[in-house]
Amino acid sequence: MNTWVVLLVGLACATSAFALDLTDHELAGKRLYREGVSSSDAQLQARVGASDMKVPASVLPCASCHGNDGRGRAEGGVRPPSLDWQRLALGQGTREANGRSYPAYTDSSLARAIQHGVDPAGNRLDPAMPRFELTLADQRNLTAYLKRLAEERDPGVE
Ligand code: HEC
Repeated sequence: MNTWVVLLVGLACATSAFALDLTDHELAGKRLYREGVSSSDAQLQARVGASDMKVPASVLPCASCHGNDGRGRAEGGVRPPSLDWQRLALGQGTREANGRSYPAYTDSSLARAIQHGVDPAGNRLDPAMPRFELTLADQRNLTAYLKRLAEERDPGVE
């Protein structure tokens, strides 16, 4: 074999060994997170701002504010918090973000935050966080992906 072929094959193996192994549901959730698209043909909508302006979710995918790695980004005065599942749901105790205090998220309170803009304590999220109109399937895919999101930035860990 030619040296270049050997090198390329080696490189391909190395990359695939580090790629995050996602199920079909998690992959669909990843597309929703990064591109704002549904696993069905439906075009997803979101409402944003105090005036509930309706926009296609593809214009405002999660990643555009929370980052591909889910660590959150500075966004004017209100910061999109980190979406690390450990921080949101698994760790003990009260969470704090943007002056709100709230207990751990569950799958259903997470869906409520994303669709209706309230946290687990019932605090209204800042209207800079859009309210997304998701089907049950889309919400399930998205939640499944959010549980894996932290691994996305730590590709060495299996
Ligand atoms: C236009 C920017 C923007 C987009 C797009 C966006 N968010 Fe947010 N998000 C925010 C901001 C800002 C906050 C903080 C609101 C607050 O603290 O009151 C937030 C808060 C949240 C929270 C609450 C976290 C906590 O600790 O209470 C969750 C969960 C969340 N976003 C998930 C998502 C998901 C999932 C998507 C995509 C479906 C998404 N966001 C899209 C800006 C955005």
